[in-house]
Formats: sequence, structure tokens, C-alpha cells
Amino acid sequence: MRDFKNLKFEELDDNLEAISENLQSKVKHMIISMGNKSPHVGKNGIYDDMRIDWWTSGFWPGILWIMNDMTGKDIYKNAAWDFDERIEQCFVRESNLHHDVGFQFLPTAVVKYKITGDMDARRRGLNAANFLAGRFNIVGNFLRAWNQDKIGWAIIDSSMNISLLFWAAEEIKDPRFKHIAKAHADTVVRHFIREDGSVCHIGSFDPESGEFIESLGGQGYGPNSAWSRGQSWALYGMANAYKYTGDMKYLRAAQKVAHFFLASLSEDYIPCWDFRVPELQDEPKDTSAAACAASGLLEIAKHLPEEEGRMYISAAKRIIHALTKQYVTWDDMDYEGLLVEGTGNKPNNENVNVSLIYGDYFYVECIAKLLGWENNIF
Ligand code: GLY
Repeated sequence: MRDFKNLKFEELDDNLEAISENLQSKVKHMIISMGNKSPHVGKNGIYDDMRIDWWTSGFWPGILWIMNDMTGKDIYKNAAWDFDERIEQCFVRESNLHHDVGFQFLPTAVVKYKITGDMDARRRGLNAANFLAGRFNIVGNFLRAWNQDKIGWAIIDSSMNISLLFWAAEEIKDPRFKHIAKAHADTVVRHFIREDGSVCHIGSFDPESGEFIESLGGQGYGPNSAWSRGQSWALYGMANAYKYTGDMKYLRAAQKVAHFFLASLSEDYIPCWDFRVPELQDEPKDTSAAACAASGLLEIAKHLPEEEGRMYISAAKRIIHALTKQYVTWDDMDYEGLLVEGTGNKPNNENVNVSLIYGDYFYVECIAKLLGWENNIF
């Protein structure tokens, strides 16, 4: 297998097919070695087997569905097939499902339905959308985050989950779901995205009056910092909100966050886990933020005139080039996981410098998009 260590940026386009072939080999190995695990964090080349209700359970099947859609090969479809049913079981037993059902059901039930027409998958996707809609706080105009006692919290991650509501609105031709998604997106624009394009992780609201109280650092360094994966969720999520609504304010919001993200990158194109840690040197990077941002940059470019979109495509390719050269485990077929140097939750010192299944997912998604794959999941 080629390792791409000497790949020049100018050679990326001509090597996308070769990268995709390598990915297929790697993923086939992962199918065999991982069995029916639901991976979240990979350490020393072994992915864990996380609870199926955990927010990351959709990403491995998402990789498999993209591969199936790109190649038509059943090996990927067979390995992905029952994930939506397994996750659905969490609705009928005690579980911790929450705002992240978009991350769980879009890359499983919804894409399965789009690719295969399976009506059980459609029902599961719609059921998850109903659940997400039920988390809407009507006076505060936000989707409630998590299930702990902080009932007035909303988080930037949900910018990605609202695609489930936009899909449901289109699927059953009922705009209620779209209204909720838009109301939440408006709250993101108003309270999460700052004047300079940086974003905070958590917004705290009074759940009774809906009044905005304060921003909180969450998985970022602090209330005024710029958690890099949060930036990625915001730039990709706002681009999606534009895709589903045609409302220019979301595209402009996505661009504003993208500009902050790109201006904050160091020369190697891979972000630190937070752009505003006091000393960048020696702080861990987050390859998952890089991969997600690259895919979001391609989404932004799709909705701009060609000459305005070029910069975003070129930036996405710079990131993908950097990841491909230095951060993908090409040289170890037995290594479960694609990207190294992901950071899950630095403030808690959890999952630092590891493989993260969502980093792997967005890397695969981005390569697929660069090869012309258009059946978007988010
Ligand atoms: N909680 C979602 C994330 O870590 O990005």
C-alpha cells in the first residue's frame, strides 16, 4: 500500500483514486478485525466498543455506506446494514439518546433509506427527527443539549444535527421540522457565532423565559476561546442550513466561521484542539476538526459562484493533503483507524492524541466528495 509521505500538493487531484483504493483496503481490514463493534476511540491501533447509544455510533456505518455508494460493493452494505436497527433499540429501553440523534441516524437510517429504499430505515429516521424536535425549547429557540440537569443548555454540535430535521421536513412534506431547525440555526447565528467568526461551545439559557444567560467553554479552553472542532461543526452546519433553506444569512455565517478557522491555522493546516490556548506550542492537535472543516469547506464552495468558491476548495484540499501525507495510518494495515492525533475532550484530559471515528468518517466523506460523490449524508 502506498503511504503518500512524499505526495506534493499539486499531485493530490491525480492521486485521489489511489487514496480511495487504499481506503477501501483499509476499511475492508477494519470490517474483519472490528466485527460488530461500535467504535469511538482508537488507541494503539485498537478501536474500543462503545455503547450503541453513544453519540458516535453512526460514524462507522456512515463510512461503510459511503464506500458502498461509491463502489456498489455489498461487503460495505452488509457490515453497515443493522446499525440503524441497533441504535433504534435505544428508544425502547433506558438510554442516553439526546440532541446527537442526527449524528446517529443520518449516517445510518437516512442514508440507508436513500441508497436502498428500505422503509424501516425511513421510519427510523423520521422517528429520530420527532425525538429531536421534541427537544426544542420554544421560548428560547434552541434544541436542548444532553440529558443532565442543565436543561437550559444548547451546544454548537447541534448545528450538524439539524440536518435530520431538514431532511424530515422534505421527506414528509411538513415544514414544522424545518421551522424548528431554522429557529435553532438562528439562535446559533445570534448567540454562538461571534463578530470575529469564532464560536463558543455552550450557550446557557433560562429554560423558563428563554433568555440568553452566558457562553461557556465546554470542550474548549474557556468561554471566549475557539474550540476547533466546534468551529468545524458551525461552519459545516451553517453551510447545510443554507443548502436546505436557501437563506443567505446561513451561508454568510458559514463563510465567516470558515474565515476565522483558516486564518487561525498554522502552516501545517492541522488545527490545535483550541485556537485560543495561551501557548499553541506543545498543545495537541485535533485531526477530526481538520477533516470535518475540510468537508464543510467543500459544502460552502458548492453554493458560491465558481470564482468565489475556489478558495474554499483549495483550502479543503490543503487540509486533506496534510492529513493524507502525515496523519493516515497507511503503513499499518492492522491498525484499526485511519487518522491519528485526534483530540476528544482536552479540558477533561479524555481521549487526547487518539484515533476518533468521526475524524475517520469526515476524512472518508471528504475524499468521496473530491471524487464527485454527491449523495450527502449531512
Ligand atoms: N460532543 C461532540 C464532540 O466532541 O465534538
